[in-house]
Amino acid sequence: MKESERYKIKDLLQSDFLGKEVLIKGWVRTKRGNKNVTFLALNDGSVVHSLQVVADVARFSETLLKRITTGSCVAVKGKLVASSGQGQSVEVQVTDILLYGGADPDSYPLQKKGHTLEFLREIAHLRPRTNTFGAVFRIRHAMAFAIHKYFNDHGFYYLHTPIITASDAEGAGAMFHVTAFDLERVPLTAAGTADHAQDFFGRAVNLTVSGQLEGELGALALGQIYTFGPTFRAENSNTPRHLSEFWMIEPEMAFYEISDNMDLAEDFLKYLIRYALERCTDDLEFLANMYDKELIERLRFVVENEFVRLAYTEGVHILEQSGEKFEFPVSWGIDLQSEHERYLVEKHFKKPVIMTDYPRDIKAFYMKQNDDGKTVRAMDVLFPKIGEIIGGSQREEDYDKLKRRIDKLGIPEKDMWWYLETRKFGTAPHSGFGLGFERLLLFVTGMANIRDVIPFPRTPKNVEF
Ligand code: 4AD
Ligand code: MG
Repeated sequence: MKESERYKIKDLLQSDFLGKEVLIKGWVRTKRGNKNVTFLALNDGSVVHSLQVVADVARFSETLLKRITTGSCVAVKGKLVASSGQGQSVEVQVTDILLYGGADPDSYPLQKKGHTLEFLREIAHLRPRTNTFGAVFRIRHAMAFAIHKYFNDHGFYYLHTPIITASDAEGAGAMFHVTAFDLERVPLTAAGTADHAQDFFGRAVNLTVSGQLEGELGALALGQIYTFGPTFRAENSNTPRHLSEFWMIEPEMAFYEISDNMDLAEDFLKYLIRYALERCTDDLEFLANMYDKELIERLRFVVENEFVRLAYTEGVHILEQSGEKFEFPVSWGIDLQSEHERYLVEKHFKKPVIMTDYPRDIKAFYMKQNDDGKTVRAMDVLFPKIGEIIGGSQREEDYDKLKRRIDKLGIPEKDMWWYLETRKFGTAPHSGFGLGFERLLLFVTGMANIRDVIPFPRTPKNVEF
């Protein structure tokens, strides 16, 4: 049962190995049969399809066959033959079976099919063994690979920005603190607050909310970089689109203005979706059949249509004129809610929208200020069913304007001096954006809840695995 001789089921299903002896290893998805034959559906994770394995009961010990139940892990050797049964073209006629591990039918939670996604979230340690999560996680891998390929092919460098930082890039204050203090005995200052000077790093630090600020340092030296790593936000948002730990892709480009930034975001998203359509066909078809009949059509639609480019002021005007009853009323200056974004995308334009030039006061300090004194060169990409999938901007490259903004917002200069120095020494126009990896996966897989596109979701009051 040498591993080097094992075939992946994916390869066997595409092969012309009829009549050949093969070795496969995998987990039993279903078992059925009669007194003469046992049929096992084996899945090894390489593809959504399981391979049918047929054992003549007379050839094997009764105890062995009895112990092989749904959920067990086995290696089987046998001949690949054409199948006369329904639902598969080939099957394996078994000559040898090795049982690696059984799965007690009385306690194995995936004994039966058809569990709800909510139930499967409670068994995140086992849900990868379902067809649904196999498909989702294979697509997740394919998208991660495609992201690296896209940037590598376009001359971007992958920059590893830190997870532990002393800055709050988005200025939203929703951060997880990192400390080596014994929390039962935190050293205090005279004023009675935590004395961070005595902590591991000698100052207050947190898990990063974004790699952008460090990404900008890279772009202003290497030209074009991207980050791709986990980010952490301690906002108490219990929605189907928010995680406390999510992965973000943040390209940052020297010399790009906002329109170049939009062109890149559109090309990048279309590339990724096209990649999924071409390379993840089986998994997408499975998910479309199970959950969302319009999935593939929706993906094609995005690839084939130009995104609408729309200024915030114009967007607000459309929303005000729409006659639509929104839960949150619309007026110039508000941060748009997902219901507003989805109205524009799904009902008004029926296309993805890149919204630009948002009010300065609802956006982060680093965005380039427009001459009108009210708006900044921000861009959010809004997608059907998702709302915001990308947030980005042209960055303020003028030292004085940036400094004034930082002072106005009360951001301590001691946290920002290094960032400000990029504007002091060889400043340049530059832009970038952040794509939420799980938001992309929500769109590509058609899953409805962000907890179902990341292996181990972290959300408020939830870290089991
Ligand atoms: O719009 P955001 O907050 O932008 C930034 O962090 C910038 N620094 C990006 C940049 O310009 N380099 O976040 C970017 C994207 C959002 O559009 C969304 O897709 C995703 O990250 N995102 C989340 N995804 C899951 N859970 C959350 N709590 C998220 N918050 C943001
Ligand atoms: Mg945003």
